[in-house]
Amino acid sequence: MKPIIETRQAEKLYQVGDSTIHAVDGINLQVEKGEFLCISGRSGSGKSTLLSLLAGLESPTAGEIEILGQHLEQLNEKERSRFRRAHIGFVFQSYNLLPQFSAWENVAMPLQIRGIPLKERKERAMEILDLVGLRDHALHKPTELSGGQQQRIGIARAIVTGPAIVFADEPTGNLDSRTGQEVMELLGRIFRKWGTTFILVSHDEEMYRYTDREIRLKDGKIEQQTLREERML
Ligand SMILES: Nc1ncnc2c1ncn2[C@@H]1O[C@H](COP(=O)(O)OP(=O)(O)OP(=O)(O)O)[C@@H](O)[C@H]1O
Ligand SMILES: [Mg+2]
Repeated sequence: MKPIIETRQAEKLYQVGDSTIHAVDGINLQVEKGEFLCISGRSGSGKSTLLSLLAGLESPTAGEIEILGQHLEQLNEKERSRFRRAHIGFVFQSYNLLPQFSAWENVAMPLQIRGIPLKERKERAMEILDLVGLRDHALHKPTELSGGQQQRIGIARAIVTGPAIVFADEPTGNLDSRTGQEVMELLGRIFRKWGTTFILVSHDEEMYRYTDREIRLKDGKIEQQTLREERML
């Protein structure tokens, strides 16, 4: 089967003053449908930049990024944004919930953007809240939830539209290790069941065991790849 994500010599350069930063430097990567991939590496190695390219948040300086058969490097910003809305979910380290809205309203936000009527939005949001174990917190505002609960709301919002691929940049970075593991277990359970492809940035080695493959970056290049089977040896 054709990979769901395929990059060829993907590159992202930043020009700062006189110097050129090779944030992502010739990445060739294939990701299978339903695969859980972890991008690791030290601070500044290019993890977030690569994630932004793969998710279509940014355009590569050179190279190809093909997702679901669509060449993202050929799309303009508006087309990329439409593509993201249709196929991609995001989970953020800092949750990014809207403070003035309740948990269910936050979860339903992507459905509202798609113009889905209120009744259907609420039903769907409640189903997903149930899935993340927070149906009884539907009316809480973000400040009335713990960090782990806020992240579960963030996850619910990311998956409410049933995206093919979910990207997460340090999703457990603000959580204690126990809560972080619970969040990863929850994501794993849902995505394995749905066949969702999951790409995660983390420098916490505890998180790697939830994934099928780790690619470690150094200076914008893939320094090492480790498959789950190799890790278990
Ligand atoms: N908008 C930008 N303009 C200029 N340089 C940038 C920009 N974004 C990132 N960089 C540079 O690109 C390199 C990679 O940055 P990136 O944010 O991808 O690292 P990272 O691996 O996610 O690090 P961290 O673990 O600290 O989040 C760094 O040298 C960074 O300074
Ligand atoms: Mg980063």
